[in-house]
Parts: sequence; C-alpha cells; structure tokens
Amino acid sequence: MSGERGFGVDIGGSGIKGAPVDLHRGDLADERFRLPTPEPSTPAAVADVVRQVLDHFAWTEPFGCTFPAVVQHGMVCTAANVDASWIGTDAHKLLATATGRQPLVVNDADAAGVAEVRFGAAKGLDGVVVVSTLGTGIGSALIVGGKLVPNTELGHLDVDGHDAESRAADAAREREGLSWEAWAARLSRYFQHLENLFWPDLIVVGGGVSKRADRWLHLVETRTKLVPAALRNSAGIVGAAALATEQRTKPMR
Ligand code: BGC
Repeated sequence: MSGERGFGVDIGGSGIKGAPVDLHRGDLADERFRLPTPEPSTPAAVADVVRQVLDHFAWTEPFGCTFPAVVQHGMVCTAANVDASWIGTDAHKLLATATGRQPLVVNDADAAGVAEVRFGAAKGLDGVVVVSTLGTGIGSALIVGGKLVPNTELGHLDVDGHDAESRAADAAREREGLSWEAWAARLSRYFQHLENLFWPDLIVVGGGVSKRADRWLHLVETRTKLVPAALRNSAGIVGAAALATEQRTKPMR
C-alpha cells in the first residue's frame, strides 16, 4: 500500500541525493537522483545543486533536507566536515530563496535516527534510542519515547583525550588501515562511554559501513544491544521528508 508523499534531500560530503518518499511505507517512492557535492561546498553552490535535484523530479512542495552539522531552527552552527563558510548561514532562508520551495533543514544523523525509529531498526521501541552514524564523522540521534532530542553531537564526546570521531569514525578506520578488530576495539571504548552517560535501551548503528555489519558488529563490546540500521543509505532522505511533512501539518501555536 502506498500513501502520502514527501521529499527528502541528503547533503553529504561527496554527493547530494534526493527522492520522493512514500511516508506510509517509509521508503523511497522513486529511484534517488544524485549529483556530486560542489567543491568548494559553499552555501550558494550547494543550494543550487539542491534546486537541481528538486527540479529533476519537478517537486514543488515543501521538502526536508539533511545537513552534516548542528542545525538549530534552520541556522547552521558548526562545520566539522563541511566548508567553514556555512557557520552562521540561515539554511532555511538560503534554500527557500535558491529553490523557491519551503525547506526544513535538519542534522543528517537526526534525520536518519527519525527514520530508523519510525520505520527501521528501532520501530516500535518506546524507550531511549541512540542512532549512531559512522562515516566521515560520527553522527548521533537521541530519541526518547519516539521524540527526537536534536543536535546531540555525540560523535564529539571526549574519549581518552580525543574527539571520538577522529579515532572511531569509519574514515579513521580507512585512513589508518585498521583491521576490523582494531576498529571494533575503538568503537567499544566509544559506545561504552556513550552508554554510561545515556543508558540507552538500544543503539542502532548506521552509515555506509553498516552494510558490512556482519564483519565487525559482533566484535564491539557493549552492555546495550547494538543493531545495524535497516534503512541504510535512504535513512537521511526518508527522515528529512517525514520531519518536513510533520512540520507542515503541525497546528499553529
Ligand atoms: C558533525 C555532525 C554530523 C556528523 C555526521 C559530525 O562531524 O559534527 O553534526 O551529524 O559529523 O555527518
């Protein structure tokens, strides 16, 4: 059965992807369209690519969009792995002007987290869920009783005197040529620190490397149950579309 449609765009370090989303199934309603992220990835250049992605589908309605940084009410506040010129950018204003559509911009891991809780690996769980995305950086989403606590930035927890993502992100594994065992030991330290602070009921692990979870997830030692993400690389698009649609239909206060 198919249902109401939304639209999600996922702004990543190498690609900007978008697709219409079936909000009943929590899945893409069409094949996603991807364009490379411009270099340098300045706000104006990225906004123009977002417009091209929307134009590709002739989507004219409001849309959701992920961004890999803290986004507070549309304002980009950090830039750990993106062009520094984004800091202080009002992403809602920028994308509304560049695309002529109404955007809702959210942190990338928050969008993925919402998708996993609504439709994926944490569906139906009513406790404290942490979704952790392992990629260039480490993203996090904290969802309590189904409600997102935005911008938790748990990838920047200090673990053994280091910014956690600098040692435990998937990019660190690749950069340092770590074996699955060596990387899993770092992830164990990271997730143990995290679970001692938040006592989640479940940790969902996403990011591209979750596709190969059978190689390493069982090596990570935690007291909390760890499961791979279910939505894989569509999670950001699906979550952003769901959040944008909800925002649009919220009663005025
Ligand atoms: C950023 C987060 C982002 C994560 C994954 C981190 O470096 O600080 O905002 O969610 O990378 O992209």
